[in-house]
Amino acid sequence: MADQNTKILRGRLLTFSSAPQGEEDTQAYSYEEDGALLISNGQIVARSSYKDVAALAPAGTEIVDHRPHLILPGLIDTHIHFPQAEVIASWADQLLDWLNDYTFPAEMKFTDKAHGARIAQEFYDALLSHGTTTSSAYCSSHPNSVDAYFEEAERRSMLMLGGKTMMDRNAPTGACDTAQSSYDDSKALATKWHGRGRAHYVVTPRFAITSTPEQLEAAGCLLTEFPGCHLQTHINENHNEITFTKELYPEAPDYLGVYEKFGLLGPKTLLGHCIHMNERELRVMQETGSIAVFCPTSNLFLGSGLFNKAGLEDAGIRTAIATDVGGGTNYSMLRTLDEGYKVLQMQRQRMHPLTSFYWATLGNADALSLSDKIGTLDVGTDADIVVLNAKATPTMALRMETVETLSGELFVLQTLGDDRAVIETYICGQPSKPGR
Ligand code: GUN
Ligand code: ZN
Repeated sequence: MADQNTKILRGRLLTFSSAPQGEEDTQAYSYEEDGALLISNGQIVARSSYKDVAALAPAGTEIVDHRPHLILPGLIDTHIHFPQAEVIASWADQLLDWLNDYTFPAEMKFTDKAHGARIAQEFYDALLSHGTTTSSAYCSSHPNSVDAYFEEAERRSMLMLGGKTMMDRNAPTGACDTAQSSYDDSKALATKWHGRGRAHYVVTPRFAITSTPEQLEAAGCLLTEFPGCHLQTHINENHNEITFTKELYPEAPDYLGVYEKFGLLGPKTLLGHCIHMNERELRVMQETGSIAVFCPTSNLFLGSGLFNKAGLEDAGIRTAIATDVGGGTNYSMLRTLDEGYKVLQMQRQRMHPLTSFYWATLGNADALSLSDKIGTLDVGTDADIVVLNAKATPTMALRMETVETLSGELFVLQTLGDDRAVIETYICGQPSKPGR
């Protein structure tokens, strides 16, 4: 007998097993034209042709027919700022002015739990509308914001990473903590949230400019005490930021050397931006397995510079891609891939559409060390899934009339798609796109 927690999703399945080198690299991905997933208790328990899945499903199992749409793993955003939902689209000069004029004032409002709870609703509605099922977020420096962030994720059963931003200088008092309070609060929050349901706590010193050496030392202690936790911070985004960092940490060999000194680097370290890197920094990134996170819409919006994907990857550095809302200008990973493509085009690095969709799914899951749970349609993983329609708008439908390949379809989705292309977003097998 079929139970209520079991269903079949039928459609065109696409999932990756490694980074594809092109359409003919069929080892790297699996595409099933009339495919199906059997989902039970929030997990994928079978993936095959529809015929085979229907044959093994219990009699009476609900069938959700998504044909002719594509069914992919849910999209993953590896760097976003939860308290910047109200900051997106603020007319500003470059990074440091943008932080001072808009971002710090907006984040100060998160001392109020009710404000955090309201923004959390909007934030998760936005993610799910855009097909994003997991993200790694900076909360504000106020513990309330972390509770608001994880409480709402828990209500929606979402696998989310995040943490309290640690910042004890060079920002208004209302946005700051102290080295000691940031340690105490982060420790209490990591104890409360890390591993509770699907929550992953992330130690989150904002960047070198807003942390004293004492605070970065505290961040290093937290990583030692919570070895399962990730760490996220920013680096080498903007020239004025780099100059100021050198003034604050004159003894460090370079920007990365600051984080290195305090033991903040490793395979669970997510370093936002990584645009202006020197040779030594590239070597240390590679040696430590730290991850360079590309935030294209933000890098263009704040005039920060061009992320050198090929240069980083040739140096053996792991990479990820992210929105960085609200420096980033869209919640959509489709829009993000499109802008990323253009940033790479500027450097004669033409990203193949299959590579793009690999990056936003398995690539980002690998970068988060979570590919055993999310990022693929593999049996035994969580049923976080997105269903995409490449004919969602008249412009897309017209373009699709002359598209003959899967890669062509993906490129239309990436170049023209946004939340209108998201037919459904499943969290643990439950339809979760708002407004349906
Ligand atoms: N560097 C330090 N804080 C931030 C932030 O909030 N956004 C971006 N883009 N860069 C930062
Ligand atoms: Zn950021």
